[in-house]
Amino acid sequence: MSWQGIIHTYRQYLPFDETVRVITLNEGNTPLIRADRLAETIAPKAGLKLYLKYEGLNPTGSFKDRGMTAAITQAVHEGAKTVICASTGNTAASAAAYAARAGLRCLVLVPEGKIALGKLAASLAYGAEVISINGSFDEGLDMVRDIVTRQPIVLVNSINPWRLEGQKTGSFEICDQLDGRAPDWHCLPVGNAGNITAYWLGYQQYGKGLPRILGGQAAGAAPIVTGQIVPKPETIATAIRIGNPARWRQALQALDESGGIITAVTDADILASWSLLAKLEGVFVEPASATGLAALKQQIEQGAIDPVGKTAVCVLTGHGLKDPGTAVDQAQPPQTIPANIDALEAYLQQRV
Ligand code: F0G
Repeated sequence: MSWQGIIHTYRQYLPFDETVRVITLNEGNTPLIRADRLAETIAPKAGLKLYLKYEGLNPTGSFKDRGMTAAITQAVHEGAKTVICASTGNTAASAAAYAARAGLRCLVLVPEGKIALGKLAASLAYGAEVISINGSFDEGLDMVRDIVTRQPIVLVNSINPWRLEGQKTGSFEICDQLDGRAPDWHCLPVGNAGNITAYWLGYQQYGKGLPRILGGQAAGAAPIVTGQIVPKPETIATAIRIGNPARWRQALQALDESGGIITAVTDADILASWSLLAKLEGVFVEPASATGLAALKQQIEQGAIDPVGKTAVCVLTGHGLKDPGTAVDQAQPPQTIPANIDALEAYLQQRV
């Protein structure tokens, strides 16, 4: 039977009322791609079995769709007419799409000038009311938390427990795709810390073994690594430009219980891993998505993780087309030649 989304597939693990009308875009079922060239590059001759969980292939191009199908399904069940979130862009696009499908009004607060083009374009196209704030994601989150105590509006940030319920299905899929076993290491970017919390919940519930969690934060936005709120977070990975994560405590718990590690990687590290993913494996992601891989590479280099014979999964959280601007900025502009065969021959000669 064809795939009908994560609620249909994993219903027995999700605490929905029997009568809910499921709002889905058939999210989930994303590929787990073996990445041997990359494994050999970051851990030569170690026999590292490296996999990429390509969450950018969800319907709106990010992992957020797993949690959003659950949050919007429940919101509709509870009679909501309007939903709201603060977002660095992906949550906004996902909320906008599922709200559109459910016929709900959707408001999204985004930090002005700090949201990648593909996310803004999609949120607008889905018909969300996009409100740019002259402030950070963290400030936006404070605002939406406040407004839902005053107005009949449902919050669909990952503070909403239904977001985690849907998101945890990522762990189920990884175990299923690894023939019923959890990996040794589960590597992912950490921003507001909903995803790390949800994955850990998922592994615990599924009962197929527990990985150690490796979280990566951008060096300019690494509150969990430093133990300090970052008042003005800064990173090229705008998705994780967050200074005071809502699920900070749960992230620490997941790290502690799993024997995990959280580490900061520089923007240069993130871009280097982003480039390796595309050039060695043909997998194009947005910069934040490369943070898990950058963290793994760093920890292997520093000797904190022994890769020999291990299985590691890097979650690639968002598609590369979310942030075309960064991709273009990182590349040499294409060379222009006259439209004739001699010019093409001359080009090839020059490149030998
Ligand atoms: N990767 C991408 C592409 C993201 O968009 C986010 C978060 C993360 C990683 C981090 O996940 O917040 O659960 O720790 N984006 C949120 C948003 C904040 O508004 O789209 P997290």
